[in-house]
Amino acid sequence: MPNNALKIGILGFGAMGKAHAYAITNLPYFYSTLPFSASIAGVCASTPERTQARVAPFGLPAASSEDSLINDPNIDIIDICTPNRFHYASIKKALAAGKHVLCEKPLGMTEQEGAELAELAAKSGRVCRVVFNNRFIPAIMRAKQLIEEGRLGRILSFHAAYLHNSCLDPAKPAGWKQNADICGGGVLYDLGSHVIDLIIHLCGPVSAVSGMAQIGFTERTGMNGENWQTNADEAFYLMAELACGAHGTMTLSKLSIGANDDLTLDIRGTQGAIRFSLMEPSFLEFYDAASPDQPIGGLRGFTRIECVGRTPAPGGAFPSPKAPVGWLRGHIGSMYAFLDAVHRGDTQSGPTFAQGAEINRIMAAAYRSAECGQRIVLREEDCL
Ligand SMILES: NC(=O)c1ccc[n+]([C@@H]2O[C@H](COP(=O)([O-])OP(=O)(O)OC[C@H]3O[C@@H](n4cnc5c(N)ncnc54)[C@H](O)[C@@H]3O)[C@@H](O)[C@H]2O)c1
Repeated sequence: MPNNALKIGILGFGAMGKAHAYAITNLPYFYSTLPFSASIAGVCASTPERTQARVAPFGLPAASSEDSLINDPNIDIIDICTPNRFHYASIKKALAAGKHVLCEKPLGMTEQEGAELAELAAKSGRVCRVVFNNRFIPAIMRAKQLIEEGRLGRILSFHAAYLHNSCLDPAKPAGWKQNADICGGGVLYDLGSHVIDLIIHLCGPVSAVSGMAQIGFTERTGMNGENWQTNADEAFYLMAELACGAHGTMTLSKLSIGANDDLTLDIRGTQGAIRFSLMEPSFLEFYDAASPDQPIGGLRGFTRIECVGRTPAPGGAFPSPKAPVGWLRGHIGSMYAFLDAVHRGDTQSGPTFAQGAEINRIMAAAYRSAECGQRIVLREEDCL
């Protein structure tokens, strides 16, 4: 019997807690025919005082503690939006309480945590997903269609980058994302997990990686106002080999002057290519080598496809399909896909915990490679 009235408890109410609350609350605007309703039954952001202060402007119910939220019998789903260090313990408690779980990326602080959580999720029979929201941007969905239709031919190379400028100011105090004790890994975890997910989602499994980490500013003011030695990478340069035979690079940096939220993908095959930029998310560029190049170039060249807000049904009702896509749209899609899976009892489709764990495994190998300067093979069978 499907659950038609999904009740969600949100853990953590910073940037992502708000993004998720926005997505849950606004689903009926974006999806014209929803076969379920979804509501926020409680929010917990560390202390009761902090929770109260954070949720009051939104009129959301405050939970007195993480445990009371997780063990609330009225709640079906625990949505984890806390800093990375807290994911593991909260997921274990939520699964023990029989809840479905949505968890922000990266799934674990370590490869081992990711693997254990993926195993627990598989045994639980609950719907467990990691938030890799960029998969749900219409242009990325169109890219996946084109690749699956074989329009790129055999994929040979990819170049992906996720660039921010947020670590460039040496006077900016370190936050939890610069503290490896809380984040587990620096920009590789924060931005790299998204990029690795997109490459796997579009092109298939990663077979081997080589990595190089960079800290641009070794000393900052810490979270407590005292001197702080930066201990998490501020940029990471990753080369990867894919099972399909493609080779490519992923550049992940918060040391990039001129960047805002610059996620770019460039994937090239034997028959065609795609290019995507998150700063222009309404468009997917597609190159089709089958287009005539005569006369005088014919129609050959990159086409800028207007994917804009043309989300597949039952989406697309609001905002107008002509409206440009924002980053938040990916979160709305991600939330819808997760809740729909809970509603249908679909424990298989992703982004699964197993996929999250694989990304933990790749990132761990990337760090090992960065330390030892050696290429690390992850899938022996592809590298023969
Ligand atoms: N998918 C994306 O686009 C995206 C973007 C940014 C961050 N994230 C991920 O989202 C998660 C949260 O990041 P953020 O940027 O929202 O962080 P944030 O610092 O803005 O907010 C964290 C929140 O968690 C609360 N918190 C801290 N410890 C807690 C605890 N023990 N119990 C309950 N609440 C606690 C804080 O009070 C705060 O409300 C991280 O895992 C991060 O990697 C994802």
